[in-house]
Amino acid sequence: MNNLLSIEELTGEQIQELLQLAHRLKAERGQHREQPLAGQTWALIFSKSSTRTRVSFEVGISELGGRPMFLSTRDIQLGRGEPIKDTARVLGRMIHGAVIRTYGQDEVVDFAHYSKLPTINALTDQEHPCQILADLLTLEEKYGVGAWKDMKISFLGDVDNNMGRSWMWAAKHLGFTLALAGPAHALPKPETLAAINYDGIICTTDAEEAVRDCTVINTDTWISMGQEAEKGTKEQAFFPYQVNDELLRVAAPGHSVFHCLPAYRGYEITDEVLEAHAPIIFTEAENRLHAQKAVLYTLATSSR
Ligand code: CP
Ligand code: NVA
Repeated sequence: MNNLLSIEELTGEQIQELLQLAHRLKAERGQHREQPLAGQTWALIFSKSSTRTRVSFEVGISELGGRPMFLSTRDIQLGRGEPIKDTARVLGRMIHGAVIRTYGQDEVVDFAHYSKLPTINALTDQEHPCQILADLLTLEEKYGVGAWKDMKISFLGDVDNNMGRSWMWAAKHLGFTLALAGPAHALPKPETLAAINYDGIICTTDAEEAVRDCTVINTDTWISMGQEAEKGTKEQAFFPYQVNDELLRVAAPGHSVFHCLPAYRGYEITDEVLEAHAPIIFTEAENRLHAQKAVLYTLATSSR
């Protein structure tokens, strides 16, 4: 594995290897014998806000022996129009790896190509692979390694966003059932589903149908970063897909509600549901650290 640019381009085997390593690194936190990033500087190049991703990468890089360097695009020439391919070729001669949060998926792909550095997608409009790895780690901790196999997992709300797309690719690679519920206009386009080509994905406008007998129910903000202008018009259509106590009555016994955070209480999730499921939701946040350390470790130790 040379980069982590998407869940799409991983195999089921690679996902399971990363999860296995993440479980080990979590158990061994504070006692790592290996420092695979020793002597290395990794840049975090962020065009969008972040709490969890920034902190978990800065801590994770340090814990594996490396030095994180945070570069906001507000401060570097990239934000004033210097092309990504030029930025990539400059950094490629100075640092050892890059973690990028931006808009277009093509930007992380181009950065990896021109820099020749191990490159990690820390969220684009297309995918959020690090979050899905942390979510799968959390799921395995609660329900057992590989438990996703026989599970119905759902995602409600703005299901064709970066989180929804990464969940769809994870479902295909690992072979679980994924039910997506949202307003008709927000469901994945036929071409997206055709590209994924996996019949375990159910798309519905009926929130109850998606949640019925479901063990893990996911949601995310209805207004992803960069879509703020659509806030007023978008929100109304999504209220039938709010994760609330009434909807959860049809979920499987022992179900969990997942949220990648930040959460907007009273919109995609109620305060009651978020607080009732807070132990697992904040474990998802913590698991960003362990899952990403597995990614960093794997990239640093793979031969390029
Ligand atoms: N879930 C997530 O990526 O959080 P941040 O935007 O705070 O990094
Ligand atoms: N879909 C959200 C995820 C935030 C972690 C966004 O892109 O803003």
